[in-house]
Amino acid sequence: MRPYRPEDRDGVRRVYADTAFFGRPVEAYFDDRELFADLGVSVYTDHYPDYIFVADDAGNVVGYILGSPTGDVGVHAHTLKSLPRILGRLATCRYRIGCKTLVHVGMSVWAGLRGELLEIRSAEYPANLHINLTAGYRGHGLGAALMRAYLDKLRSAGVPGVHLVTTNRHRAALRFYRRVGFQLLQEKQTQMWRRYVDGEVRLMAFGLKLREAGRVSVAGRLGGNHAT
Ligand SMILES: CC(C)(COP(=O)(O)OP(=O)(O)OC[C@H]1O[C@@H](n2cnc3c(N)ncnc32)[C@H](O)[C@@H]1OP(=O)(O)O)[C@@H](O)C(=O)NCCC(=O)NCCS
Repeated sequence: MRPYRPEDRDGVRRVYADTAFFGRPVEAYFDDRELFADLGVSVYTDHYPDYIFVADDAGNVVGYILGSPTGDVGVHAHTLKSLPRILGRLATCRYRIGCKTLVHVGMSVWAGLRGELLEIRSAEYPANLHINLTAGYRGHGLGAALMRAYLDKLRSAGVPGVHLVTTNRHRAALRFYRRVGFQLLQEKQTQMWRRYVDGEVRLMAFGLKLREAGRVSVAGRLGGNHAT
């Protein structure tokens, strides 16, 4: 586990796409992983590289934690600025747009219009985070090590709290976040995955306060047996 370096960019994008469908590859619902990564993860590698930590196996990125100390506000502003570049690539056919992508975009817009999406804008939990490990590297303490590094980085920047959004279908991740000390802030049922997933899907937002009192408890919860 170590801080991100510019040469990790492709590896982070690969893990992002490999884990995007409930821990499995994004191709289940999206056609082009370059477009997917440009929309979802470029903002972090371009603008918040100091807030990325990677798990590295012999030079290969096998996992990451990343986020922004100012959360969705800063991320959306940077994403908007990158849209002309992405639209230019779309116009010149640099991305593959198929049925899966069109359906996913439609389902996302529809979910947004129905008020099913969760976004946390809170002074108590301003930072956000995303964490993912490649299958085969899970359950060995790498997630805990990445989490410790990211929370320490936020604390040293004076950030008071951090939030994340996951779903009720990310069962291992839910146990992991609760073990770190994250508390449920909000949840909402969504129809946006009904084409791909049987049964109910609920989006769940969790928050963790990073004040000094939490420092001991979070470090204690994650234990010492997961260090890399
Ligand atoms: C969620 C994830 C980041 C956790 O990282 P990890 O390296 O697998 O977790 P760790 O081995 O560090 O485990 C830390 C704690 O989390 C809990 N945990 C993690 N995976 C678990 C599992 N499969 N079952 C039960 N508990 C689990 C355990 O309580 C563990 O603490 P313990 O060892 O004291 O019992 C990783 O499994 C992952 O990337 N999963 C797939 C993608 C994903 O769901 N990402 C989150 C999207 S919101």
